[in-house]
Amino acid sequence: MLSRIKDIAATLAPRLIEIRRHIHSHPELSGQEYQTAAYVAGVLSSCGLHVQELVGKTGVVGELAGTGADRRLLAIRTDMDALPIQERTELEFASHQPGIMHACGHDVHTTIGLGTAMILSQLDEPLPGKIRFLFQPAEETAQGASWMIRDGVMDGVNAILGVHVFPTIPGGSVGIRYGALTAAADDMEILIRGESGHGARPHEAIDAIWIASQVITTLQQAISRTQNPLRPVVLTIGQIQGGRAPNVIADQVRLLGTVRSLHPETSAALPAWIENIVATVCQTYGAKHKLNYRRGVPSVQNDPTLTQLVEEAAEAAWGTERVQILLEPSLGAEDFSLYLDHAPGTMFRLGVGFPDQPNYPLHHPQFQVNETSIITGVVTMAYAAYQYWQRG
Ligand code: NI
Repeated sequence: MLSRIKDIAATLAPRLIEIRRHIHSHPELSGQEYQTAAYVAGVLSSCGLHVQELVGKTGVVGELAGTGADRRLLAIRTDMDALPIQERTELEFASHQPGIMHACGHDVHTTIGLGTAMILSQLDEPLPGKIRFLFQPAEETAQGASWMIRDGVMDGVNAILGVHVFPTIPGGSVGIRYGALTAAADDMEILIRGESGHGARPHEAIDAIWIASQVITTLQQAISRTQNPLRPVVLTIGQIQGGRAPNVIADQVRLLGTVRSLHPETSAALPAWIENIVATVCQTYGAKHKLNYRRGVPSVQNDPTLTQLVEEAAEAAWGTERVQILLEPSLGAEDFSLYLDHAPGTMFRLGVGFPDQPNYPLHHPQFQVNETSIITGVVTMAYAAYQYWQRG
């Protein structure tokens, strides 16, 4: 079956590059993927899939019914949105939309979803089980997965696979990560209220700026002394607002920050841990406080069995020298994690690096993708999906 999948992929290669370039040159922002969704729906329909549009606002779902011999339903998720970035590559298929660019490779992800659907619909024998392709909007704003889930895309799903491009892995190679792939990313706002006064008479006031500085310092020190160093926490206060004049003691300060963590138990405990530190410092010096903690997306935790399924599929297709086991997670965030509340899943990294030209990072205006990786991604995904039903 692997050689059959590779043969179909080789035949499809020019078409897949055409699809990728079309999507790349017509990028759309999160939640506005109307043309991309219509294009995706058209390709899926032409492969004979049952297609639903406007799922999760601008998302698309395509289903390929198998023989029904195996009742397990596998989902494959790709994302479709682009970023508010002015493209600065000189590619002939560069963005036609001023200020919008596929700088995170979601054009490639969408192409891989479509290519996998094309291959699996062209096998000589039907699949034993059903497969559902999720083309998700608004990943960059961490909204799309929850929109899709609210519309029921995970109903009945037994397992889910995903992919993300990675420029530091060579094009044509696959990165496999067991356990945590990305971090939980939350936002917080800390409001501190003291009492204003003359800058020359601090004892008659409650200095919210000085207390805020104590809060920041204590939080950073407490990470090193009270958090398990093997379960990383990154806390960044990126914005401070407060004070009106050099000689007036500030009565209010607002701190805004982001909090990243990898371990689910740590993530769960962070709001209470932060609340306790902020409350203790503020009470000590007589200030009032309020913590507004907003949960973002949880950490992507790759399922061991499914990760092994993808690793073995990639090794069978490309050899062990083109499969890297990734030793470190990323502290970036990915809303693929929200699907994992409903079914086990795994996301692999697809190398898109060039051997002979600079590799700019994701979200960079000169970010480029080594297109040889498209076939690697499509074959890996299609073969891993096929193998899913071959296992008990
Ligand atoms: Ni992305």
